[in-house]
Amino acid sequence: MTTVLTYGTFDLLHDGHINLLKRAKELGDHLIVGLSNDNFNRLKNKETYFSFESRKMILESIRYVDLVIEESNWEQKISDVISNKVDIFVMGDDWKGKFDFLQDYCKVVYLTRTEGISTTKIKQDLFKKELA
Ligand code: CTP
Repeated sequence: MTTVLTYGTFDLLHDGHINLLKRAKELGDHLIVGLSNDNFNRLKNKETYFSFESRKMILESIRYVDLVIEESNWEQKISDVISNKVDIFVMGDDWKGKFDFLQDYCKVVYLTRTEGISTTKIKQDLFKKELA
């Protein structure tokens, strides 16, 4: 069995997220998502619309996702890879090169981001509409 692991905030779920999750799942048999919790998002200066619990419930309802674990800091990746027996670590290519240190523990793959969509863009577009 090939286990794949990816991380993210996955707020206001959009087609870019689904494309990433679908392609990540296609690389193996079991897809684990490390979901940034609310404290960690604050640390990254990301304010989410949905709480950790809601984002987790939404992710768990996606057919490509087998397990959601909590991401609470930058340092946990190596131990997550080891304890979950991860074969492939996947991130969008906005993170290209940033997690190459995991190559000592598993394969590291950066997938092309879907163009023209992000949670930030959704928020900005809705804000613009409100002002118009
Ligand atoms: N992702 C993607 N294509 C997009 C947006 C996101 O492939 N258009 C991927 C990211 O590269 C990451 C995962 O989805 O691997 C989760 O990204 P996240 O940061 O939660 O989503 P964004 O929409 O990029 O959020 P934000 O605008 O808040 O940074």
